[in-house]
Amino acid sequence: MAFKIISVVGARPNFMKVAAICEAIKERNRLSVGPAIDHLLVHTGQHYDANMSVLFFNDLELPKPNLFLGVGSGSHSVQTAKVMEGFENVLLAENPDIVLVVGDVNSTLACALVTKKTWCAGAGAKTFIPKLAHVEAGLRSFDRTMPEEVNRIVTDAISDFLFTTEESANLNLAREGVASDKVHFVGNVMIDTLFRHRSKAMESSILKDLQLFEAGQVKPYAILTLHRPANVDDRQKFANMLESFLTVSQHMPIIFPAHRRTFKQIQESDLGDYFVDHFLAEPEPWDKRVRIRLVPPLGYLDFLQLMSRAKVVLTDSGGVQEETTILGVPCITLRDNTERPVTLKHGTNVLVGADPEKIISEFASVLLGNRPQPAIPHFWDGQAANRIVQILTDEQERATQMQDAAWAEPAAGENQGIPSR
Ligand code: UD1
Ligand code: UDP
Repeated sequence: MAFKIISVVGARPNFMKVAAICEAIKERNRLSVGPAIDHLLVHTGQHYDANMSVLFFNDLELPKPNLFLGVGSGSHSVQTAKVMEGFENVLLAENPDIVLVVGDVNSTLACALVTKKTWCAGAGAKTFIPKLAHVEAGLRSFDRTMPEEVNRIVTDAISDFLFTTEESANLNLAREGVASDKVHFVGNVMIDTLFRHRSKAMESSILKDLQLFEAGQVKPYAILTLHRPANVDDRQKFANMLESFLTVSQHMPIIFPAHRRTFKQIQESDLGDYFVDHFLAEPEPWDKRVRIRLVPPLGYLDFLQLMSRAKVVLTDSGGVQEETTILGVPCITLRDNTERPVTLKHGTNVLVGADPEKIISEFASVLLGNRPQPAIPHFWDGQAANRIVQILTDEQERATQMQDAAWAEPAAGENQGIPSR
């Protein structure tokens, strides 16, 4: 019997993760393996600028969302509340068997909460609460001032399926008392997407567009991404970090595809002097200052190509720590903690926080080539989404069989009160 899954996307890193799930479901349906899956994609609209959203649908060949909630920006409470209101209507209209959320953004938390509080209409007069699947469960930074940490803890606490990417996540969930039969170590869907799109990304013209070729060779360059409120919302802290990036710029150009939040901060905090707009004509001939090269947020394929060929990546992104581990590119993480410790243990990642001295000394160490060889974390093999879809399908078949058996032989007193599926 066919069953229905709703997958939720809202903000940039969600698109890369759900792309792998869409692909795995499409392939399963194409091969007619097991019951057909009716898969709906809901976009909350948390991110909405073309280069924070639509661009990824093209690059990742994502299907057009079946439903768009258009919530936009707002305070955490306003944004979460708007997603909840919109998503409740979706659930009541669609009655999915399973809701799948990814990562740790506000849209993830909001849709998770709604899922576990909504009674949907089932066969006959029966009502049921959909199952909740959390992809990328169990990651912990242990820093509860990070909004994402709160989103992760709450989502995990109410999920029925917790799909994990690394061993630390399994340990965290066990410590929090999550029943082990709910936890499935499946690997990393973001890496599925990287493997799938890697060769296409190599066709991107971004290196040429950014004039990063010299005499037919790629020039050494660094990439910077920065968007955590803890880094960009405090003007002085942000300015101190920018000073250290200027030091890096004296050795090689830094390309900075600036997140919308960060771009606004640069404008409002009057920090524009640290940057040059990379796509504008050269600065005036008398202006010899070394500056950070600002570009708009890039599409996935362009960014993947840029990351792959970089000498070093400086970042506070979660996803980028994982991608650089697979690409074998040194990653200097501008945070004091990471919820992805496998990238420190096996990957190319080091934590330096926001301390300018540490940033510069770690950059110097990269220049000297003092970095261990990375290893590929367990199950980061391009098959995570297939594992997830297999587990969900098996569980659904098992639930259907149990339900059929219960209908055939109803025990005394069953099917009274609020029935469940
Ligand atoms: C969100 C996630 C963060 C994730 C990041 C990925 C939460 C709590 N945070 O942070 O975990 O790492 O996305 O990029 O969910 N803005 C625009 N256009 C857009 C989107 C945002 O201008 O398309 C601006 C708005 O001023 C907005 C601000 O960026 O207020 C922040 O956006 P928001 O989605 O609230 O959080 P992010 O910082 O993007
Ligand atoms: N990314 C992108 N264009 C950019 C910067 C990042 O496509 O200009 C991709 C990056 O490769 C990764 C994802 O965005 O797949 C990470 O998203 P982000 O850093 O916004 O969120 P986080 O992972 O920190 O939650």
